[in-house]
Amino acid sequence: MGKQHQTVSELNFEGQFLGFVGDQPKKFKHLRLAIPSGNVKIKIPKDLRCSLVTSLVPGEQIHIGAISKFNPRTSKLKFTAYQVQASGFCPIHHRLPEITAKIMVCQKSGCMKRGGKNLLSELEKTLCDRGLLDKVKIEHTDCQKSCSSAPNCVLMLGKKQYKKIHPDAIASLLENHL
Ligand code: FES
Repeated sequence: MGKQHQTVSELNFEGQFLGFVGDQPKKFKHLRLAIPSGNVKIKIPKDLRCSLVTSLVPGEQIHIGAISKFNPRTSKLKFTAYQVQASGFCPIHHRLPEITAKIMVCQKSGCMKRGGKNLLSELEKTLCDRGLLDKVKIEHTDCQKSCSSAPNCVLMLGKKQYKKIHPDAIASLLENHL
């Protein structure tokens, strides 16, 4: 199995707002937050930028709900806020999109000869054991044009696509997002 996918999880930050990052006030994409372990840069979704630019004051204490993504290829961790709450203000929410999940498992000869059937049953068993079977659609597909890395399956999680991913990793991603 390859390791080129990103690991995604949710987390909360509590810290002091240091300011926005960038030169052009109307195009700030990130803010900087001082937390006990140091400073972090957090991306702000477009629909929150306007309200935050006018409401946040450097130095104030804020709470941020964020999604973190770890890319093992670059070893970089990135954060994107979905909720920002300044003390004394009402929470400003960014509605998290409803996430749908689908797993496409290749069941053509190239993959079947190299463990495609086992991959499918391991996937079904893992999802069943972790109570996720009814939350995701499993589809059997034709050749996915990656026969050299058979057996193949693709997880579609919202708009993201994860390839060459182990059933346990699929289950963990689903648990974190559904
Ligand atoms: S047969 Fe499965 S990817 Fe080609």
